[in-house]
Amino acid sequence: MFKGRDVISILDFSRSDLKTLFDTARYFEEFKGRVFDYLRGRILALAFFEPSTRTRLSFEVAMKRLGGEVVHLGEIKRTSIAKGESLADTIVMLSNYADAIVIRHRLEGAAKFAAEIADVPVINGGDGSQHHPTQAMIDLYTIWRELGKIDGLTVGVIGDLKYGRAACSFIYGLTLFDIEKIYLVSPLILRVRPEVKDYLKKSEIKFEEKEGLEDIIEELDVLYVTRIQKERFPDPSEYEKVKGSYIVTPEILSKSKKNLIVLHPLPRVYEIPYEIDKLPCAKYFIQAKYGVPVRMALLKLIMGE
Ligand code: NCD
Repeated sequence: MFKGRDVISILDFSRSDLKTLFDTARYFEEFKGRVFDYLRGRILALAFFEPSTRTRLSFEVAMKRLGGEVVHLGEIKRTSIAKGESLADTIVMLSNYADAIVIRHRLEGAAKFAAEIADVPVINGGDGSQHHPTQAMIDLYTIWRELGKIDGLTVGVIGDLKYGRAACSFIYGLTLFDIEKIYLVSPLILRVRPEVKDYLKKSEIKFEEKEGLEDIIEELDVLYVTRIQKERFPDPSEYEKVKGSYIVTPEILSKSKKNLIVLHPLPRVYEIPYEIDKLPCAKYFIQAKYGVPVRMALLKLIMGE
């Protein structure tokens, strides 16, 4: 089911695939700190053409905890790419050296392009503004672990829905479940792309666009917050217009359901003030922690015997 597969979009996976993934991740959660033998002798190449903390480190930790090893492309300015080597040639090389590749790239479609070239599985660690499938797996896993289910929930996604690939992949991922309703909350210029809306319609998921949380906070079971993706704005003056335009305050959260959980793929900038961290609803660091067992599960299922 998973063996040898590329991971390009969360929509490449079925609900039953996610069940297998989640059960495997749940198993690994019980053994924090243990090193397994599942991927002994295997090598994962990490090719990050954009900054990353969690995705890069949790893939590395996951691989090492499975008994495998990691090679890094490292800082791009120290590679042959700085001499003009193409992405295609770089991927051919990595595919010859390693047993699987994780790629992160600024360009949409870069992971699919790499997968077409490589002879080994390619995992998309985030490309462009739409796809970050392993983040969506972690987000859905967090909901399942913290609330015990995903079906029937009302979910608010707030922030940069236009350029944020974590938000976009999460929204796509929700379509695999029987979601009660999705609220898409953003400033007007950062509304979700038409193709995402079309997909929601096609999937017959109830959704509504909003500019603020005030009149919907009481309905939410999950609030997924994302930062404004400053680096993806073609025009910096557009960023200035929306900068700081929404902040999840304790006041707004005081109107929520008792069991609301607040998620964020991180990094946060200002959209969740530090004072929220101590509230029981704040689950974003636990979400980041789940990155390791979920990526262990994915690597074992794809690369293992
Ligand atoms: C995200 C990304 O790179 O898309 N980071 C992550 O993997 N958690 C989110 C972001 O940068 O805002």
